[in-house]
Amino acid sequence: MLQISVTAYLILAVSSINAEGSDDEWEKYKIMFQKRYPNPQMNSLRKNLWLSKTNAIKAHNSKANNGEHSYIMRENIFSDYTEEEKEKVKGYIHNSSLISRSQTVKCVNTPKIPKTTDLRVDPCLTPVGNTGLCGGSWAYVAASSLEYYSCKMNLSETIPLSRQQIIDCDASNYGCEGGSYVASWQWIINNGGLCNQMDYLNEKNCSVDCLKPVIASYKRLFPTSGMIKMALLRGPVSAAMHGSENFLFYSSGIYTDSKCDKTPNVAVNIIGYGKQNNTRYWLIQNFWGESWGEKGYAKVLQKSSMCRLEQYAFIPVL
Ligand SMILES: *[C@@H]1O[C@H](CO)[C@@H](O)[C@H](O)[C@H]1NC(C)=O
Ligand SMILES: *[C@@H]1O[C@H](CO)[C@@H](O)[C@H](O)[C@H]1NC(C)=O
Ligand SMILES: *[C@@H]1O[C@H](CO)[C@@H](O)[C@H](O)[C@H]1NC(C)=O
Ligand SMILES: *[C@@H]1O[C@H](CO)[C@@H](O)[C@H](O)[C@H]1NC(C)=O
Repeated sequence: MLQISVTAYLILAVSSINAEGSDDEWEKYKIMFQKRYPNPQMNSLRKNLWLSKTNAIKAHNSKANNGEHSYIMRENIFSDYTEEEKEKVKGYIHNSSLISRSQTVKCVNTPKIPKTTDLRVDPCLTPVGNTGLCGGSWAYVAASSLEYYSCKMNLSETIPLSRQQIIDCDASNYGCEGGSYVASWQWIINNGGLCNQMDYLNEKNCSVDCLKPVIASYKRLFPTSGMIKMALLRGPVSAAMHGSENFLFYSSGIYTDSKCDKTPNVAVNIIGYGKQNNTRYWLIQNFWGESWGEKGYAKVLQKSSMCRLEQYAFIPVL
């Protein structure tokens, strides 16, 4: 039903607009990303945001085609967002006091580390989620890594844990305004556990009966890329990075940014590493849906903790 009406609208829009090319493109954009703006003021404000972003993406990509950038960008749901909205969806708020008090894993002996790792083929890896407008990357990272390790321990399928419960009930973080996966794990430990997604949906109550222990402690991987690679032999590594404007529009290739050596603002899972065209990268899982990046994943340059990705790498202990 929805699809039929969208198609009809598309035909109507295409046949009735014969003005500037950008009007046409804007109408197509709104249909593609299901944007509806009730009044002309809002429509024109959003259109201007979209237009300047579209031009910036085109300029970036033509440089990328000349070999001046190692990744390309593309239009997406964020294209007509305001600066404020774009900050909010990143969703990670660094908690330095908690992190400095965390136990670290000491590197004892180095087993043979494979040349590449890619956990996307591992059935215990939780599929890419989508935080939507909620700045919930921190909760998705906290829950998805627990799901992975409990799947491994239990030799069974992944049982989805409630991200919603974390976002609703974890008062040490800020819900859709952001938070820290480390603080969230600490909250789950203090709280006596977390509910499965299905159980929480049925209860919808922060003083719930469905809690089950899912984490005992957590450890920081001291920031060396070697430690992260070793940890990836066991499973995903929870991390955070500074994602600037371009990161939101990443499409494919190896992401790099000369201006991202700043406090992290996006929580991600590191799920592998490899080499493309002689350049080493980390493979990360993000939570902006499969239409973002390479089906929801991205490659980030593996070099001197690009965007501080290696700096706050943690694993849960179940
Ligand atoms: C292991 O899997 C079973 C069946 O899916 C489930 O009932 C049980 O709660 C799981 N145990 C843990 C520790 O996750
Ligand atoms: C950091 O985490 C601690 C413990 O969970 C919490 O009490 C504190 O408010 C957090 N700080 C920030 C800046 O969120
Ligand atoms: C929430 O849970 C508490 C204790 O389990 C219960 O007494 C209360 O009625 C529940 N509230 C709702 C709205 O379900
Ligand atoms: C790798 O390099 C070759 C030649 O330099 C280029 O044609 C190709 O597009 C590059 N691949 C990627 C994924 O960047």
